[in-house]
Amino acid sequence: MKINFSLNGRNVDVETPSETRLSDILKDNAKIGSVHTACNKGECRSCTILFNGDAAASCLIPAFEARSSEIVTLEGFSKTDDYHDIMQAFEETGTTLCDLCRGGTILTIYSILERFAEPDEGQILDAFRGSICPCTNIRIIIQVVKKTALYRRRKRFGRK
Ligand code: FES
Ligand code: FES
Repeated sequence: MKINFSLNGRNVDVETPSETRLSDILKDNAKIGSVHTACNKGECRSCTILFNGDAAASCLIPAFEARSSEIVTLEGFSKTDDYHDIMQAFEETGTTLCDLCRGGTILTIYSILERFAEPDEGQILDAFRGSICPCTNIRIIIQVVKKTALYRRRKRFGRK
């Protein structure tokens, strides 16, 4: 089947079987380097994208569901102010992420902050359940989410 979607702001047409995983389309057809497929079961987050605005595992999305969708990967998201806020928070904690988990971690943080202006630990832990990264302490991720939330509130409302 032929599908069309928006990828990082540009239109993409792909001819593919209807059940092809979106993660494979992004890797193989669109040559997106930030999407990885460590489990192909929706458990590890290495294939995370923003799918119509929400963080989602692209390995669980079949091609036919991607028709007319709006997809943003880390490549597109890295051009936004939100990306720079998250990276600043990571730098302040002295933490770096590897290629395998970077996209999933950053896009999940963004997705949390789109839902909660001041997320609590339970909301953050919930969003990160099943994360692939065994090397970054979840306490650091919680710190990064809270710091980024603070930067956003200051920018948007001029308050703490
Ligand atoms: S490859 Fe998609 S969640 Fe692991
Ligand atoms: S820093 Fe990427 S998997 Fe841990």
